Amino acid sequence: MAPSDDATMTHRPQAVVTQDRLERYLALRARTQHLVRDLSPEDQLAQSMPDASPTKWHLAHTTWFFETFLLTPHLEGYKPFDPRFGFLFNSYYEALGPRQPRPQRGLLTRPSQERVMAYRAHVDEAMTRLLLSDDQTFDDLLDLGIAHEEQHQELILMDILHLFAQSPLAPAYGRGPAPEPGRTPAAPAFIGYEGGLVEIGHDGQGFSFDNEGPRHQVFLAPFSLADRLVTNGEWLNFMADGGYERPEFWLSDGWAKVQAEGWQAPLYWEPSPDGWKVMDLRGLHPVDPAAPVSHLSYYEAEAYAAWAGARLPTEAEWEHAAAQLPVRGGFLARGVPAPSPAQGEASAPRQMFGDLWEWTRSAYGPYPGFAAAPGAVGEYNGKFMSGQMVLRGGACVTPPGHVRATYRNFFQPHQRWMFSGLRLARDGAAPAPRRSAFETDVLAGLSRRQKSVPPKYFYDAPGSRLFEDICELPEYYPTRTELALLAQVAPEVASHVPEGAALVEFGSGASLKTRQLLDHAPQIAVYTPIDISPSALDAAVESLSRDYQGLTVAPLVDDFTVALELPEAAQGRPAFGFFPGSTIGNLLPEEAVEFLVNARRLLGPGARFLVGADLVKAQSVLVAAYDDSQGVTAAFNLNLLTRMNRELAANFDLAAFAHRAVWNAPMSRIEMHLEALCDQTVQVAGRSFEFRAGETIHTENSHKFTSEGFARLAAQAGWRLEGQWASPEPAFGMFLLAS
Ligand code: AVI
Repeated sequence: MAPSDDATMTHRPQAVVTQDRLERYLALRARTQHLVRDLSPEDQLAQSMPDASPTKWHLAHTTWFFETFLLTPHLEGYKPFDPRFGFLFNSYYEALGPRQPRPQRGLLTRPSQERVMAYRAHVDEAMTRLLLSDDQTFDDLLDLGIAHEEQHQELILMDILHLFAQSPLAPAYGRGPAPEPGRTPAAPAFIGYEGGLVEIGHDGQGFSFDNEGPRHQVFLAPFSLADRLVTNGEWLNFMADGGYERPEFWLSDGWAKVQAEGWQAPLYWEPSPDGWKVMDLRGLHPVDPAAPVSHLSYYEAEAYAAWAGARLPTEAEWEHAAAQLPVRGGFLARGVPAPSPAQGEASAPRQMFGDLWEWTRSAYGPYPGFAAAPGAVGEYNGKFMSGQMVLRGGACVTPPGHVRATYRNFFQPHQRWMFSGLRLARDGAAPAPRRSAFETDVLAGLSRRQKSVPPKYFYDAPGSRLFEDICELPEYYPTRTELALLAQVAPEVASHVPEGAALVEFGSGASLKTRQLLDHAPQIAVYTPIDISPSALDAAVESLSRDYQGLTVAPLVDDFTVALELPEAAQGRPAFGFFPGSTIGNLLPEEAVEFLVNARRLLGPGARFLVGADLVKAQSVLVAAYDDSQGVTAAFNLNLLTRMNRELAANFDLAAFAHRAVWNAPMSRIEMHLEALCDQTVQVAGRSFEFRAGETIHTENSHKFTSEGFARLAAQAGWRLEGQWASPEPAFGMFLLAS
């Protein structure tokens, strides 16, 4: 029917509308084909589990959707490409008759790949004719068909990842540089919302799925939402605290699943001698502690929230917060899709769109007033409104432009092959009380099953003095052994230092060992010590500037594990990094890799990096070094309790704890612990912690390396081993790395 004059005045000209919709359709189809361009016919046929479908089936099914819902009813004289395809490629529409059982889609060796592509071409040609016609009655169905194929673009990637993850070859979907760990984000901040009577749901402007409406009012009690997604690093803490072994965190159905499936980590994580690895579309690589944790079931998300003393947001809370934000995110845009670490400042929630689908604690059900559309198309969403939970926000594999604040995705609570993560929420809008990092870390550490406190808190003023005393002890060989080794190898090391170099020392302290290098390498033009302590740096700057005429000392006050940029005087020069003392041994292997990656970035291309690392040796020598006869190490360890008593209003009785140093052979590390000598309750920062006699606080790891183990660690961070030296027993190593 020709539009009335009135209609032509208020609408855009028909030719523009049809051109527009044709372009949208063709662009969609081209994007789908672009996504599968590197997949072989075998990749496209295989089906790795009943929930997943072969790529070839996705390509045909989306085509069948346009054929069934648009061409057959709306294009006069249209003949289906092959009448048998209705059975093969109908997904779940009961109104359209029987179909190939979903778990057996992978058995469809025929039609061939070429015939599926011919099917697509046939439907594209007919769709082109339909879309160039004057008919506008099917425009809503066209929007649905486009959104539907976009959903399948994401499904293709989810299903391919699941398929590739079954292969011992761990193939990558996309080529690209090996991923590097990102910067670990700060602890999440909670952003408060007053709530009240608010509206959620789609308002009918533009396209939405039927399940997003009607828009309606809901009452929200005050709540707060974390400013970012939970990270892999945080998930590792959950695991280390027995997250998968402690039923107290789990919903009953979730715990049954953990038992039945033997879950110990998110889907696609694999243990390896070098720590956890994860399979994603880039292949298998070390877990990046800074990146958001992905491929979680609802049960795991719930358990984590319970462990963290928080909860998941409801979908209404999530939407209320998201409605105020622009739809921005990683999405399926550039490169190989993978979730990336949170960036920038946290005045508003980050990563709300296009990183990972976020589990909510809302069951998927109809909004008040929802009615499914009549006919087969009404089966699209409504009939799945039982036994599923809602996820929000879209993922890095979601096509850009596909999601909105009102978009409701849904999966069964045990499913985890989608790109799903979580964000924490809490009751109440008040921001959580501001705590020092020390207080936050201690409260978190003492809440773990294996109580722990990070070793960096040893070094208050008395602790630093005690450490200096440790370095003088007859049993504590590392400091003097390293100094002697350095004195011996410095001339050779100096030959690797380029002319005009900037010497960059990580965690420099008093810069004592640095002198060995400066004495033998006069070509060093700039010295940049990095240390968190301004007073230590001031002293070093003063004495080194005095003793080394012509040397520019350009210090950097920063946490050396996260320093981002060298001072101006050091920039543009060939960099020579220096990290003595075996402090690298106090990091967990994954932290050490993260540190080495950061250092490589900071030092720049072509850099060299000299790292001192203590080597594996007789257990008796190791234990004596950490449990000396004068009790200095014991005092150093117990000083942590004194510090908590002073700074966190704790009431540790120092006589009720004993210093322990044990050699953990499988982990190749000395562990320091503080052991409770009797059952007791201790107050820390207003909270009570129970100790059973014999229970310990784990205070430090000091890893001891083999030369192969160290080279492997360095290689994981992109460094090549260029040289190495070891002292005679007690063995200590110096490793020269090249980027
Ligand atoms: C600083 N760090 C290398 C020392 C070590 O040997 O792990 C800390 C230390 N702990 C007890 N004694 C020394």
